[in-house]
Amino acid sequence: MIGSGYVGLVSGACFSEFGHHVVCVDKDAGKIDALKAGRIPIFEPGLEDVVAANVRAGRLTFSTDLKNSIPDADAVFIAVGTPSRRGDGHADLAYVFQAAEEIAAALSGYTVVVTKSTVPVGTGQAVEQTIRRLRPDAEFDVASNPEFLREGSAIEDFRRPDRVVCGTDSERARNVMRQLYRPLFLNETPILFTTRESSELIKYAANAFLATKITFINEMADICEKVGANVQDIARGIGLDGRIGSKFLHAGPGYGGSCFPKDTLALMRTAEEVGAPSKIVTAVTVANDARKMRMAEKIEDAFGGVRGKRIAVLGLTFKPNTDDMRDSPSLVILPWLKGHGADIRAYDPEGMKEAAKHLDITMCDDAYQALDGADGVVILTEWNEFRALDLDRAKKLLKRPLMVDLRNIYKAQEMEEEGFAYYSVGRPPVL
Ligand code: UGA
Repeated sequence: MIGSGYVGLVSGACFSEFGHHVVCVDKDAGKIDALKAGRIPIFEPGLEDVVAANVRAGRLTFSTDLKNSIPDADAVFIAVGTPSRRGDGHADLAYVFQAAEEIAAALSGYTVVVTKSTVPVGTGQAVEQTIRRLRPDAEFDVASNPEFLREGSAIEDFRRPDRVVCGTDSERARNVMRQLYRPLFLNETPILFTTRESSELIKYAANAFLATKITFINEMADICEKVGANVQDIARGIGLDGRIGSKFLHAGPGYGGSCFPKDTLALMRTAEEVGAPSKIVTAVTVANDARKMRMAEKIEDAFGGVRGKRIAVLGLTFKPNTDDMRDSPSLVILPWLKGHGADIRAYDPEGMKEAAKHLDITMCDDAYQALDGADGVVILTEWNEFRALDLDRAKKLLKRPLMVDLRNIYKAQEMEEEGFAYYSVGRPPVL
């Protein structure tokens, strides 16, 4: 497994749990040393236990030495980062090709080289050409095997995926992939074999579709606010239609994270480049960017202006159960509020260390410390511990019982009974 970031580490650990022997490789010696010492560089529920158990069983090891990890391998996964290239939004494939070159030099015996990183259509072919150019003698196939796991539930998603997608025309490579995923196969997980190009595009299409679904319900939330409807009823009312489905219809402050923003942008670029521009994906990215800013204005309205106000903020990460801050709505909303004169006191269960690198705000030890003396509270991320706040205690700590809940985790009626002014997303406010 080349690249021990989110996808590489989770996939490597889970493949070892399936009974395979896995070496997770990374150039970052600090990361590899930490992993060897049993320290997990990211916060992901359950990952530490899977890693520890499989290290103990002798199936999972860590190394900085790519060259010596390749020759015995039946399959080599490229799971390095493909960040947005600065300036144009294209996926930056520098790490992918660097890995391909290093793999080429070390190949021995038949090997399936698998791109697990999210890569634009055509990358598999380019990787194949790169390896072929450097090693005309090598016996290999290049397959695409995108990953659909979510941060925060990555282990569960890997163990019980809705489907596995594998793109290759080679029957020999398919057999290796079938063997790798055999435990899932036995559980009747659909394994979809396609061409490499289709498999590469499925990944982008899936993320763009989910981003579209979220953006759609967010727009419905805006309409609900204007007409006095409730977006949660809309989501349920349409979600029960099997053709639509109820998942990913939670209105909120806009999607963030390491995938949707980057992948929608990259798909837009690909679509433009091949002469089939996607109006839908373009509209989704524009709407989502604008939404984050509007959420700051929504907070300002609820507070009746934020200048000189102290605001308690609960949640900083782009979603719960992760310490990931990438493209989190908080990175847009909080600097705006601060710039308009607010004093921000924030708490996040796992994200504060990372957040402190990007946000110049006061971090608190827990939710109640953030609330103490604040003019109101804003919920930005739906961590479970924020769902069950002691509202009596919160009321005593706050200067005024005011909550802006951008994740709709409280019930309006409950807040009314508690005497809160309560603003949420796509639902009538309690004034
Ligand atoms: C996403 C996809 O869900 C995974 O299938 C995919 O493998 C991954 O990207 C990837 O490409 O690596 P992830 O970014 O971890 O996973 O998180 P999601 O749970 O999808 O949430 C993304 C964003 O959408 C978050 O900001 C979340 O708050 C927001 N969201 C999600 C909503 O606002 N409403 C929803 O109903 C669902």
